[in-house]
Amino acid sequence: MAPILLPMPGAEALAAAIAAALPGATLAELALRRFPDGEHHLRVGGEVAGADVRVVARLDHPDATILPLLFAADVLRDLGVRRVGLVAPYLPYMRQDRRFAPGEAVTSASFARLISRAFDSLVTVDPHLHRRRSLDEIFFIPTAIAHAAAPIGAWIAANIERPLVVGPDEEAGQWAREAARQAGAPCVILSKTRSGDRQVALTAPDLAAHAGRTPVIVDDIVSSGGTVGEAAGLLAAAGLGKPVVLAVHALIGEADMARLAPRIARLVSTDSVTHPSNAIPVAGLLAEALAASAI
Ligand code: R5P
Repeated sequence: MAPILLPMPGAEALAAAIAAALPGATLAELALRRFPDGEHHLRVGGEVAGADVRVVARLDHPDATILPLLFAADVLRDLGVRRVGLVAPYLPYMRQDRRFAPGEAVTSASFARLISRAFDSLVTVDPHLHRRRSLDEIFFIPTAIAHAAAPIGAWIAANIERPLVVGPDEEAGQWAREAARQAGAPCVILSKTRSGDRQVALTAPDLAAHAGRTPVIVDDIVSSGGTVGEAAGLLAAAGLGKPVVLAVHALIGEADMARLAPRIARLVSTDSVTHPSNAIPVAGLLAEALAASAI
């Protein structure tokens, strides 16, 4: 059954682009407003009873979005929707994937339980899977993942001469190695130790063989910019130029970006998170993942 895509506020253009790339898909509307006291009012426009509805939601800055998202899933069930799926190009809370100190919440698992109770399926772009190998370890609904490494590699091939792809840590290796393969470029992976939200220490292998190449850092997430900033410092110390940075999910805010900007040549990202650095669209990837998975 071709799905109806229902965008949450801020995801209208993304939902329309996915619908345009997904044969038979149509769009529905969710009107969301707040009462004077701040509580949400929701109204689904159009006929949805018996349909397969995919709620399309941007979940960066998730805390303000989650409650209306759960209300949306609930009202859809109440209106007789057959299956309620979630399409979220960025999946938040995935980095807290272990109890690092006694008593800490493992919010990736808590978040996964919350979403699994409300939705029948999840489609996302490159979730942060580090200590977990698969979303199935924490979600108990079917999931499908769209991968951005190939279009990132294609962007590098089209825009950078003699690139050296750099993964700033072993977690980023999965994206860096694949993007480098796509771009036909060499790849090096740095080692990272994190000591705080913004404090990381990196080490690099010998980079002498790559003199004259343009360094291109590929990472899944740029958040505080600490990792990329440190990597840029190491590359400069090795005699390489300022790096171009390719991120799947650009979460970095204005103040941190202002601190990072002098250290890099440019930040380029997919539009999984709306950001001034967006250059690589994910709608086609999400449409392919929706079409290819029978979830
Ligand atoms: C690490 O686990 C991720 O792959 C990114 O390297 C990390 O999230 C980047 O965070 P920040 O920009 O705050 O260093």
